[in-house]
Amino acid sequence: MMNNEQLVGNEVAEAVREGLSQSPRRLPSWLLYDTEGSRLFAQIMHLPEYYLTRSEFEIFAQYKEDFARLFSPGGEPFELIELGPGDGLKTKVLLRHFVEQNLPFSYIPVDISEDALNQLAAALQLQWPGLDVRPQHDDYFRALALLSEEYTRKVVLFLGSNIGNYAWDEIHEFYHQLSRRLRPGDLVVTGFDLQKHPAVIQAAYTDSAGLTRAFNLNLLRRLNRELDATFDLSAWDHYETYNPETGEARSYLVSQKAQTVRFGALDWEVTFPYADLIHTEISRKFRAEEINRLAAQTGFAVKEWKTDCKGYFADVVFERLHTE
Ligand code: AVJ
Repeated sequence: MMNNEQLVGNEVAEAVREGLSQSPRRLPSWLLYDTEGSRLFAQIMHLPEYYLTRSEFEIFAQYKEDFARLFSPGGEPFELIELGPGDGLKTKVLLRHFVEQNLPFSYIPVDISEDALNQLAAALQLQWPGLDVRPQHDDYFRALALLSEEYTRKVVLFLGSNIGNYAWDEIHEFYHQLSRRLRPGDLVVTGFDLQKHPAVIQAAYTDSAGLTRAFNLNLLRRLNRELDATFDLSAWDHYETYNPETGEARSYLVSQKAQTVRFGALDWEVTFPYADLIHTEISRKFRAEEINRLAAQTGFAVKEWKTDCKGYFADVVFERLHTE
């Protein structure tokens, strides 16, 4: 039997071997979130340029009563399932309100990071001992499949514009899968970062404190540690480009010189020419029509649409339709 660390190790090895053999080279964005990467992202959320977290926080603070009514019409019990909660800061605004209103619900955070989950569960237990928290350390879809056995109304949260990390075909597949696993009347609430002045978006990913740069470069440090690689971090730079026509912000690592990197654990070497690129992340920005079309094409109706006062971010409530 392999332990969890070996499994993850193999996944990292496979992703790196595959991604760096492609042209253009790429590394999947989930590799950004080792312990240090998660810590850096938590700091990014507080940056003045990183408006996403504040906008979504504002939406929940402003509309918590509306969410309570939507999630529990007539005081009906429900399961609140959050995919990738992180530190749960935004969700706590909702949880506090629901607890104060005595709504009958369980909170089910689902994450592949066991550390993050345990920390969140412990913090919630301390804050609200009466809250029924059932952490699921699992892949999103396996967790959903397990839940469906006994019927309770389900509300799935997918916040923070985490959806923006995916390609369009993956986004469609994701909502199709959700639709298949939910029942008519169940809800999905997604945080979508919206298109806006491109300079605002560009700034959110090229912050003056250099945290986004550190976050991106940390991926190479992870590979040095986990795959016994020899990346010289001073020979790599962070580059971000936002294309307002496609809505894609893309992060790259740029090789500042011709260099060869050895991966001891893979018994493998990669030669990077000067100015070679590794694509590490897409942070997609959405248009309203795209969100409406996504719902219509995957078996959902758009039930509610909440934005912050600047119109930067939307939390959109999809309701699973009776027919698909
Ligand atoms: C956590 C995926 C929503 O894309 O904005 C922040 C990650 N990357 N700064 C995003 C991130 C660079 C973030 N998500």
